Amino acid sequence: MNFQTELEKKVKEIEGIIQGFLPKEEGFQAAMAKAMNYSMCGGGKRIRPLLLMETCRLFGGEEKLAEPFAAAIEMIHTHSLIHDDLPAIDNDDYRRGRLTTHRVFGEAMGVLGGVALLNYAYETMLQAFALTQKKERVITAMKIMAAKTGLYGMLGGQSVDVENDGKPLDREMLDYIYRHKTSALIEASMMTGAVLAGADEEKTALIQRAAGNIGLAFQIRDDVLDVISTKEELGKPVGSDEKNHKITYVTLYGIEEASKRTEELSKEALDILNGLEQKNEFLCLLVESLVSRRK
Ligand code: IPE
Ligand code: IPE
Ligand code: MG
Ligand code: MG
Ligand code: MG
Repeated sequence: MNFQTELEKKVKEIEGIIQGFLPKEEGFQAAMAKAMNYSMCGGGKRIRPLLLMETCRLFGGEEKLAEPFAAAIEMIHTHSLIHDDLPAIDNDDYRRGRLTTHRVFGEAMGVLGGVALLNYAYETMLQAFALTQKKERVITAMKIMAAKTGLYGMLGGQSVDVENDGKPLDREMLDYIYRHKTSALIEASMMTGAVLAGADEEKTALIQRAAGNIGLAFQIRDDVLDVISTKEELGKPVGSDEKNHKITYVTLYGIEEASKRTEELSKEALDILNGLEQKNEFLCLLVESLVSRRK
């Protein structure tokens, strides 16, 4: 398999799915719909929907049922980025190669458009009920999405992250932050893909473990890129963590140790995936590729 060609094909497929679920820019609230679509259509690697669809394929699930969830996880993720860039949080001006949502539409639209996108994710997921007789799978998947996004998931992680700007952190606290602000949405992606395909609790728990490690590795790589990359390549500012006086894996351990940890975590995740009786070669190659991603 030529991984790169396959990846491009699959990203295109995801783009098509996302387009199909975006809100219409009409009516009195058109300005907010424009702000939502601006951030959704600004590129992005689409890692979470890819992981969701590929985990669904791993367990032989119906792709049509996973599609609203693939669009929804990207909406939830994009909402987290719009808010993460706001002046009150990381105060960054570039995202996905262009000005951030609040810089183009103003801060009020950044706040409202972000929340509206989070809500729209649920409006989108609810459409899945019309696509299947297996309603309990949709309920379980939505419960996972809600839990992994909220107080005990991504948003909890983001809150502890900003609370600790400029403060000393130990490894335990840092892992808590990363496993929530970043791993939680990767876990949600892969677990919902599994659940919608009918994976049992034991398999879903294994997927959660693999996804947790993939997410932690993903955030450590993000920290490394914040130091070694360029704004042009990343499409977002470098040096954001230093600007916000953040303790990261890089400040604690240095680039080399941090990169080693990324490799170890990815290997642990791949060992879990390779141990399953079901196989998805593309999914494994995708996970492997994240270790040395350049953006
Ligand atoms: C950025 O996520 C935020 C982190 C959790 C590190 P991505 O690196 O997936 O951003 P996009 O979606 O490709 O823009
Ligand atoms: C944010 O981590 C993770 C989110 C939940 C948005 P960062 O603040 O490091 O993400 P970037 O570097 O701005 O994408
Ligand atoms: Mg942040
Ligand atoms: Mg940020
Ligand atoms: Mg970062």
